[in-house]
Amino acid sequence: MSFISEALKNSYHTGSVWPSSKALAMAITRSFREKDGPRRILEVGPGSGPFTKVILDALRAGDEYHLVEINESFCRNLQNRLIDPYLSRSSDPANVELHQGAIEEVSLPSSFDFTVCGLPFNNFPPTVTRSIFRQLLELTRTDGDLAYFEYAAVRRMRGAVVGSDGRADIRRIDAHGKSMMKRFNGQREFVLANLPPAYVIRLCGLGS
Ligand SMILES: C[S@@+](CC[C@H](N)C(=O)[O-])C[C@H]1O[C@@H](n2cnc3c(N)ncnc32)[C@H](O)[C@@H]1O
Repeated sequence: MSFISEALKNSYHTGSVWPSSKALAMAITRSFREKDGPRRILEVGPGSGPFTKVILDALRAGDEYHLVEINESFCRNLQNRLIDPYLSRSSDPANVELHQGAIEEVSLPSSFDFTVCGLPFNNFPPTVTRSIFRQLLELTRTDGDLAYFEYAAVRRMRGAVVGSDGRADIRRIDAHGKSMMKRFNGQREFVLANLPPAYVIRLCGLGS
């Protein structure tokens, strides 16, 4: 319920009315969960925490996990409902830091092995999308992995209800996504068990 009410109050930043499913969370966190050794992971836009839950369950001592969320109410909820219980039940917890603010503004360490991003890029102007991507690429190691998701057919559906300026923006965002896929060896995974169904997009080989 908290997600739905925040989504209705702030549709630009939230970009959906339902939190992601467990199936989407498992898909978007797969390479992180399968990696041995200490890992540094960044999650951007955790919202009510469907990916956070899966990441916290997979954390090991020595890992480092940063979360960046713009919405104050989501932050309070994440801290009280997920992060504090994780810290109190773990005998040797990983280092977990929640940053409240916009990813464009918070100060973070760099060199993350994994970046998991839940931002609604199709809601943002193309210049904002491009600049956030640049920043995420800078924060992620060149041998790291950047994963984000988008709803299936979202641009086609939005294209049907916006005017010509909106359609031009959608084409720019689409072209940007395709060029990132090509440049960074992108892989797409379809997740049917999500409302609506979605693609996880994983960019690897960020040094190329
Ligand atoms: C589509 S929701 C995804 C939430 C969650 N990851 C999920 O999949 O259910 C987008 C989230 O990104 C957050 N957000 C939007 N713009 C942001 C920004 N510039 N910096 C940090 N968080 C942002 C929103 O508040 C919201 O929680």
